[in-house]
Amino acid sequence: MKRLEGKTALITGAARGIGLAFARAYIAEGARVAIADIDIARARASAEDLGAAAVAVEMDVTRQDSIDAAVAASVGALGQIDILINNAAIFTAAPLVEIERKDYDAAFAINVAGTLFTMQAVARHMIARGGGGKIINMASQAGRRGEALVAVYCATKAAVISLTQSAGLNLIAHGINVNAIAPGVVEGEHWDGVDAFFAKYENKPLGQKKREVGEAVPYGRMGRAEDLTGMAVFLASAEADYIVAQTYNVDGGQWMS
Ligand SMILES: NC(=O)c1ccc[n+]([C@@H]2O[C@H](COP(=O)([O-])OP(=O)(O)OC[C@H]3O[C@@H](n4cnc5c(N)ncnc54)[C@H](O)[C@@H]3O)[C@@H](O)[C@H]2O)c1
Repeated sequence: MKRLEGKTALITGAARGIGLAFARAYIAEGARVAIADIDIARARASAEDLGAAAVAVEMDVTRQDSIDAAVAASVGALGQIDILINNAAIFTAAPLVEIERKDYDAAFAINVAGTLFTMQAVARHMIARGGGGKIINMASQAGRRGEALVAVYCATKAAVISLTQSAGLNLIAHGINVNAIAPGVVEGEHWDGVDAFFAKYENKPLGQKKREVGEAVPYGRMGRAEDLTGMAVFLASAEADYIVAQTYNVDGGQWMS
């Protein structure tokens, strides 16, 4: 018996990386998935690669009209939305005295407002159709504590953990479980970008920061997107019905809470 048989999911930022791995894992467990992303060309290519259980949906989580259109398109294509993963996010880093307001605004618009208003739009749909649902927000170990060069991104992920708590407490009355996953450091294009930031601000050759963080993980290596899929499937399944407003670390032992 597949664990998400007959379920439908909307995953934001799923054209690549962790979101795409979640989509693949959900489909393997019997779900149908909307691959929602601002990069619609890549979302289409990824959806095509995943086959008939995937549909690409254009979505910019910073715009309310785009959120509403993406939710409507997902409901149109899938019939309803049982599971939402708020996965779209951007990374930014700079010493405090060099932080630019435009980078702060962009990160909060995508990582925080995007998460809140996508949760809201999908929760409205779930409440209207009845029967509850599952919402999973992508936090980060960066949301557990500050980092010298990463003030803005860390603050966005702390906000995601807090939103998960408040939304979880509010929406469980409707049978909607809201929880979050806090990864550590995960290989992929996202971390290639992070590495480039550290190369600039810590004067390191490209690739060095990545090697250092990988060696520092208690498990002994950086995470892979596939290391996170077990938790994403579990939190979307009926086995997680009694889990409310939690953020789970899946990070090879980097953070304990
Ligand atoms: N990779 C890591 O080390 C790591 C660690 C901790 C947490 N996370 C979190 O996991 C999630 C996925 O990370 P990833 O490594 O796959 O990132 P990624 O950068 O590879 O993918 C992010 C996706 O979001 C999309 N996106 C960006 N802006 C958008 C917008 N306005 N509207 C819709 N989509 C948009 C991008 O096009 C991209 O496809 C993020 O929330 C990230 O913060 C990642």
